[in-house]
Amino acid sequence: MIILLLGAAVLVGAFLIWWLIFETEGVYLGRRVVVALYDLYAARYDRIKQFDETADITLISQPLLDRIAPIVDPLILDVATGTARVPLIMARNARFQGHVIGLDASRRMLAQARKKVVVGRFESFVSLLQLDAGDLPFEDGSFDVVTCLEALEFMPRPQQALAEMARVLRPGGLLLTTIRIDTRWMPTRTWSEERMRRELEKLKMRDIEVAIWQEDYSQVWALKAGRSQPIRADRLDDIWQAARQVPVSYNY
Ligand SMILES: C[S@@+](CC[C@H](N)C(=O)[O-])C[C@H]1O[C@@H](n2cnc3c(N)ncnc32)[C@H](O)[C@@H]1O
Repeated sequence: MIILLLGAAVLVGAFLIWWLIFETEGVYLGRRVVVALYDLYAARYDRIKQFDETADITLISQPLLDRIAPIVDPLILDVATGTARVPLIMARNARFQGHVIGLDASRRMLAQARKKVVVGRFESFVSLLQLDAGDLPFEDGSFDVVTCLEALEFMPRPQQALAEMARVLRPGGLLLTTIRIDTRWMPTRTWSEERMRRELEKLKMRDIEVAIWQEDYSQVWALKAGRSQPIRADRLDDIWQAARQVPVSYNY
């Protein structure tokens, strides 16, 4: 009987560890654990994810550029950039003449990102910053586009992070984010489509569209209410000057 109980306790413990560390990537253990786990996986992240660049170009960079046409030189902020998936597919797109600032809380994910930016000689298209998504140092309306893929559910305060993204987007600017399709494994962390729509409407986002994308995630596109002149990449220096406390370690 004792052996049976011990066996059951070991099984439950192993399941809990698997769920807390692997399945939910530390999100129920707090921000530090999430970032520490991403630091730990950083060198293997691209191998684990096996991104299909052709699909990413077809389903991310092309539609993004189509939606903001005729602007070809937007200033883009990619929140939780990881190993620079979005900056690189933008920089590799021949139509793109803008600039992407990729920010992430994990130093080692950024180190991987930086290697790829340098190898591809994309420094003029991409800057990388180690920052938390919940407190962006940029002025209101600083970017033409804000993206945040596969990341909101790992943040301790996703509403605050989304509000920051909406704040730094210019009126009329484009937001691209994602929601996880299967909400069973991360209760309270993953948002349904209805919840995401409600959150975006509270932030005065309009024309909200949810598009099936990958097995695990849907894309969410939205525009910030209002209109304003495009910011454009040649305003990058002004944006840096107006920003408060921008760490320079990953800034080219
Ligand atoms: C699943 S990865 C997605 C990376 C990238 N967007 C992509 O599509 O490959 C989640 C990323 O979110 C970052 N992250 C988690 N919490 C964060 C926070 N509070 N602020 C900034 N980045 C955060 C992690 O370090 C990790 O790089």
